[in-house]
Amino acid sequence: MRGIILAGGKGTRLLPATLITNKHLLPVYKNLMIEYPLKTLLALGIKDIIIVSGGENIGDFANILGSGKKYNARFAYLVQDEPLGIAHAVSLTKDFMGKDPFVVILGDNYFEDNISTLVNGFKSGAKVFLKEVPDPQRFGCPELVNGKISKIEEKPKEPKSNYAVTGLYFYDSTFFDKFKILKPSARGEYEITDINRLYLKEGNLDYVVLNGLWSDMGVHDTLLHVANFVKEKENQTKL
Ligand code: TTP
Repeated sequence: MRGIILAGGKGTRLLPATLITNKHLLPVYKNLMIEYPLKTLLALGIKDIIIVSGGENIGDFANILGSGKKYNARFAYLVQDEPLGIAHAVSLTKDFMGKDPFVVILGDNYFEDNISTLVNGFKSGAKVFLKEVPDPQRFGCPELVNGKISKIEEKPKEPKSNYAVTGLYFYDSTFFDKFKILKPSARGEYEITDINRLYLKEGNLDYVVLNGLWSDMGVHDTLLHVANFVKEKENQTKL
């Protein structure tokens, strides 16, 4: 399976740090932000990884991460000319993906879990990863009926569950046909939630619940939180 790391976007919520560089190249404790989702993909045994970012930064990613050799993997770099949304960024990889399923991860997401212990083979449809959170109204939030996702709402005022849909997705190649019928949302982006809803409509949206910490690193507080968490974890393993 191939992997895609999305490292585009505007990064406005991390200003002024993002005046210096792309959000995903900022340090989070001892690593660059993008190295955390990279590690999540590598732990899944994924060797072919496409990194998508805006044209102004793509060269920096290539300079820093290189061919992938030092991670025992192969990296390719793809430009998203404008930040038109997560689904749009994924759609750009179409010609490189063929008919195989693939994994998408947001470049500002931290997953403590080793996902390979939670997923037992993936062949078709879509799989999302849910995490119980105290504030589901900030995220894509599923309704679960009889153990199945019945609905996904984006930032609902009255959430139907305590779960957030996190930034890790497994898809089959029908993603690209689904993208063709997508319309931009009110905020002008091609939304990944709309893709997930199309899989749901077909009865092909599955989920896994995460155990460990999941957090984005896209605002000052969450970046600091993850940095402290990683530091603590490292200190504990030294004991
Ligand atoms: P967001 O955090 O929703 O957006 P952003 O990165 O532009 O940040 P801000 O809201 O602070 O301006 O993006 C989530 C992830 O998806 C992030 O890792 C960047 C990535 N992304 C893309 O790769 N392309 C895109 O067009 C968008 C919107 C996001």
